[in-house]
Amino acid sequence: MNGEHGAFTVDSEQATVDFGARLARDVVRPGMLVTLRGELGAGKTVLARAILQGLGAADVVNSPTFNLVQTYPVAGGGVAHHFDLYRLESAAELEGIGFRDYLDGAAVVLVEWPQRAAGFLPPADVAVTLATVPDDAQARALTCSVAPR
Ligand SMILES: Nc1ncnc2c1ncn2[C@@H]1O[C@H](COP(=O)(O)OP(=O)(O)OP(=O)(O)O)[C@@H](O)[C@H]1O
Ligand SMILES: [Mg+2]
Repeated sequence: MNGEHGAFTVDSEQATVDFGARLARDVVRPGMLVTLRGELGAGKTVLARAILQGLGAADVVNSPTFNLVQTYPVAGGGVAHHFDLYRLESAAELEGIGFRDYLDGAAVVLVEWPQRAAGFLPPADVAVTLATVPDDAQARALTCSVAPR
């Protein structure tokens, strides 16, 4: 996937996990920004965890247990940062944690609720949106855009 846009339905949590594993294997590379959009419970964290696991992160934790960012060593010697900005209170808080420093480097950066950091984020390399589907609690509408490199 390069300069591509896909829209499809993932019909189970496992299908979302499989998609994340595929993104990690085939698309996500060091230095990339991956944004994950969608309402509460859409599946952003399920997908982020699958990407992290696919990158070789160990002991991936649930996002409610960390404050804004969790960093993992990944295969190949680099790191991945998983941000969950849902509880972000102000842009000043981003300045306070040195948010920009996380972005310019070789790290993979995954961001849930990227709209909370509008103005701080460059265009995403991989932009994913998830949405629930009427009448099917296990399905999600997923769109994924991969920027040309
Ligand atoms: N196809 C699916 N893909 C992903 N999650 C699914 C799917 N079907 C059901 N689920 C369920 O939906 C929930 C998704 O929760 P998750 O924490 O990933 O959402 P989130 O988008 O990160 O929400 P939040 O904004 O609160 O962090 C989980 O309970 C998961 O089991
Ligand atoms: Mg989440």
